[in-house]
Formats: sequence, structure tokens, C-alpha cells
Amino acid sequence: MTSRTPATARVTLGSTFTGAAGGGSGDPDKARDSSGSSGPGGPGGPGGPNGPRGTEGSAGVTVDRHLAAAERQTSLAADVRAGLTSQPRELPPKWFYDATGGLLFDRITRLPEYYPTRREHAVLTAHADEIAAACPAATLVELGSGTSEKTRLLLDALRRLGTLRRFVPFDVDEATLLQAGADILRAYPGVTVRAVVGDFERHLGSLPGAPAGAVGGDRRLVAFLGGTIGNLQPAARAAFLRAVRDQLRDGDALLLGADLVKDTGRLVAAYDDSAGVTAAFNRNVLSVINRELDADFDLRGFAHVAVWNAENSWIEMRLRSVRDQEVTVRALDLVARFEEGEQMRTEISAKFTLDGLRAELAASGLATSRQWTDPDRDFSVTLAVPD
Ligand SMILES: C[S@@+](CC[C@H](N)C(=O)[O-])C[C@H]1O[C@@H](n2cnc3c(N)ncnc32)[C@H](O)[C@@H]1O
Repeated sequence: MTSRTPATARVTLGSTFTGAAGGGSGDPDKARDSSGSSGPGGPGGPGGPNGPRGTEGSAGVTVDRHLAAAERQTSLAADVRAGLTSQPRELPPKWFYDATGGLLFDRITRLPEYYPTRREHAVLTAHADEIAAACPAATLVELGSGTSEKTRLLLDALRRLGTLRRFVPFDVDEATLLQAGADILRAYPGVTVRAVVGDFERHLGSLPGAPAGAVGGDRRLVAFLGGTIGNLQPAARAAFLRAVRDQLRDGDALLLGADLVKDTGRLVAAYDDSAGVTAAFNRNVLSVINRELDADFDLRGFAHVAVWNAENSWIEMRLRSVRDQEVTVRALDLVARFEEGEQMRTEISAKFTLDGLRAELAASGLATSRQWTDPDRDFSVTLAVPD
């Protein structure tokens, strides 16, 4: 985790201004309420960093952009250079998620083999009201928010309680983020949506502050769902949890969705579905590098691999080179030679125990106040507060 504080671009109706990030100074929601608006769309679409700003397709979502196109490019370039020049080769999973990657992940969540989404949905359906009662928040922040579908269960519960004022989805994938933000704005009249385009390993220090006139005090519930915590290596996980903890004030809480250890066959099947959607998702990282760094990966030259690493208690997704081949990344002036059979890791997805989760949270200064699972104990949701 870096401690660098980037400049923030906030998009408002018909204009853009940049200001120093760090703690959401000023009144962000007044900006939105009076004029703020950025239309949904991808990076090249309305409201995107490369696209026109303005009301076209506007849905009244305010966007804080910590990862503008240029910075995204620099960050991707650094990760790809480091990943392709290390042995074994490795690419970080966040780069799966461009607009296509977001759509593919959404398809994965509906696959018969991919149980985590359904199980987490079941937990939230059963316990959303308890969660809301335990943390009657004015602001629901969602890290790695994606389509925010399950999140509606939490939004509904907070709305029933009468405390909900604002939703802050936070994701690296701008296209999916803005679409989800616009959909939620439409579905929840009176709730403001302030979307944050950023990297949750780097930009947590820029989370927005309290909304104007919040009834539930200025409490924030920070949700991190989908088992995304498992994509982080143990040291990065500890740093991330510590960074979240540093953002939480008295009364705030973290809601963490995490997948649990289970039968290896079921785990592997969830990451190697028979329809090949996960394989397409895995290879999508190569498309992103081809497009954004002018590389020439041949997607047919890499096979999808999913294996259980028992020692580390995680699933690994890899791409296996099906032949000897050379890949040129022109933007990096880099040539990478792959031997037939060489495997490049593209994602880990750690699986947890309930005790292990509590211990990791405690080590980062977070006390577990409640922990739920689905009836089959496949997936867990933990509510934790600053120690
Ligand atoms: C496994 S998906 C989960 C999506 C959603 N939370 C769910 O439960 O279905 C991971 C999400 O986190 C986002 N993401 C991954 N790495 C990220 C990072 N470093 N910073 C911000 N978002 C990230 C991806 O774009 C994607 O939307």
C-alpha cells in the first residue's frame, strides 16, 4: 500500500474541478444536490475521463475520480512491467475489470457453479435488518462495489430504519460503477449517490465525509462484499484492513463478506465453470493489456487454469502458455518470452475460517461484533467495529 495522496477530480454538472484529496473536505453532497451530475458511461463515454462532461445521459451521480485515465495507465504499466519481468510471472486481479471484465464477472455470479454470490445474498436477505440496527448508518460505502446488486438488501434495510441518506460505491471499474450508481439513484429517491473511481488499496484516505443534514448522525457502514478480500495476499489484506480501520470513527462499522474453506471440488468448479465464462474473464486481462499498453497477446495462446493451493488456503487462477511464444508490450518497450506450459498467476481467492477472520480483523484493530453464515456455512458475513 502506498501512502501517496493523488489529486481528485470531481465531476459536476457541465464542469470539472480538481482539488486536493484527503478526507472529503467541503460539502460534497451540496455540490451534487445543487448541480452535481455525471452521466453513466465508460471511460470514453459521457462523464468519463476521456469523454465529454455534461448532462448527457445524466443521472445525478457525483463522481470522485482518483484514478483518471492517465493514472490508471501509469499504474497498469507499472503492474504489468513488474508482473511480466518477475518469475513466476503474475498480474494483479484488479486489471480484469474493464467494461467487458465487469460484464463477465456479472455472468460468473449467475453460474450454477459459482455459489458465493447466492450464498452471500442469502445471508444478507436473512440479516440485513440486524446489520442496519447494529449500524444505523446515514452513509453506506461499498468498496469494490461492481453492480451493487446484493447491496440493495442493505440499502433497503437502512431505508426501512429511516437513516439512509447517501450511497458511496467505490470501484476501479468506472463503467460498471457509474451504471450501478445511476440505477441506484433512480431506485432510491432522496438518497444521494457519490461514486468514487479509485483503488481501494491506495485511495481509502479519500472517502467522503458525512452527508449534509444526516439524520443517523454521520455514521458510515463500509461494506466489502463478494469475497473480494480473498483477492489480496495476507500482507496486503492486513494493510487493507488497517487502512479501513483508520477510516472508521466511533459508530462506524465494516461489513465483510468472505468465502469459507470447503470441499476442494466445489471450490475449483466455482473458478472453472463448464460454460467457460471464468476462462474468458481470466483471459480478459490480456485484452486489457493489448488495448491499453499496445501489446500483442494472442488470447488463444493461453489456457485458463484454476487450482487449489492448500498450503495457502486459496484458489489460484492462472494462464498457461499453450506454446512457446513471444509477446511484445510496445508501450513498455518490453518483450516477454513464454515457454510452452509456463503458468502466469492472475488471481488468488483466499478461503477463510470464521475464527481466522476474527483473528485477522483483531490484528488490524477491528473487533468482530457479529458473524453470520448461510445455513450450509459456505459463505460468511462479519460485522466489525474499531477496537
Ligand atoms: C469479485 S468482484 C465483487 C463485486 C461485488 N462487490 C459483488 O459482491 O458481487 C470485485 C470488484 O472489486 C473491484 N476491484 C477489484 N480490485 C479493486 C481495487 N484494487 N480497487 C477498487 N476496486 C477493485 C472490481 O472492479 C469488481 O467490481
